Amino acid sequence: MTNLAQWLADQPVDPKLASVVASMAAASVEIARVLRTAPISGQTGLAGQTNVQGEAQKALDVISNDLVVKHLERNAEVSILVSEELDEAVHFSNQGAYLVATDPLDGSSNLDVNVTVGTIFSVLDATAGLLQKGSAQLAAGYAAYGPATSLVLSFGQSVSVFTLDEGGDWVLTAEGLRVAEASGEYAINTARERFWDAATRGYVEENVAGETGAAGKRYNMRWVGSMVADIHRILMRGGIFLYPLDSETAAKGGRLRLLYEANPMALLVEAAGGRSTTGHESILEMMPTGIHQRVPVILGSAEEVARVEAWYARG
Ligand code: AHG
Ligand code: MN
Ligand code: MN
Repeated sequence: MTNLAQWLADQPVDPKLASVVASMAAASVEIARVLRTAPISGQTGLAGQTNVQGEAQKALDVISNDLVVKHLERNAEVSILVSEELDEAVHFSNQGAYLVATDPLDGSSNLDVNVTVGTIFSVLDATAGLLQKGSAQLAAGYAAYGPATSLVLSFGQSVSVFTLDEGGDWVLTAEGLRVAEASGEYAINTARERFWDAATRGYVEENVAGETGAAGKRYNMRWVGSMVADIHRILMRGGIFLYPLDSETAAKGGRLRLLYEANPMALLVEAAGGRSTTGHESILEMMPTGIHQRVPVILGSAEEVARVEAWYARG
């Protein structure tokens, strides 16, 4: 059995970069512990404050963010932190070469109901500034707090999965993940149908028509409502995830955030042979204009992403 420390030592990357990933993994172990007993310790419900994006923070959002800050500020290799829960980027008092962008706890609507949530992160070169394309990411990963606690990592070439054991150690349980090229499973919040554009509507209508429609095959729909859980399913057995631009989210540029949700997930999916797009351009090639920038997100199995792109190309 290979554990995370052994695996990181074997990777052909700067050991300082590996240490940043190890710090996020360590923060995730603590977050997992808090989540497991939150209803007993009373760490549930709202925190009573809103973040810069106007979203009500839950107590667990704040606790998770504090744990990430604690682990990263101890690591001299990290000089900058961008977090969903912090209005501004935090500059630590060191010259560390790395920047971490994180969604400390993804899936707010699933907190307090015991459904999988996660921690997403992206590692970048701190000397290149706060606003960089996703293609510049040096590492990306997430922890998924589900029936098992999983850590999914990539330095851009391949994707590996670790599982948290009883002793608090991450054990390598899968390597070289491949997103199935074809799939009959899609994930989208269909309650937003009245806001959809023609491309989203056309694609989903074809899926619903199944073998009787233009797609010529049957589809199934799954929407956990935690991006981490939906993407984890897609990495493990294929499928497509869509949070497209719609008429309600258009003014904000989308729903999900580019730096710490879309980019790390796009890197992971692409490193596993899947594809990602906004509908019009590659997510990883978008130049951000703000640290909390939002973006339309479509990613997963190559054939399905190509079908959505074809709908967008029809104009
Ligand atoms: P967060 O909890 O970090 O704000 O992110 C929630 C995101 C994402 O996890 C999920 O895919 C999406 O919001 C769900 O949106 P809906 O509530 O519109 O389904
Ligand atoms: Mn999120
Ligand atoms: Mn979050």
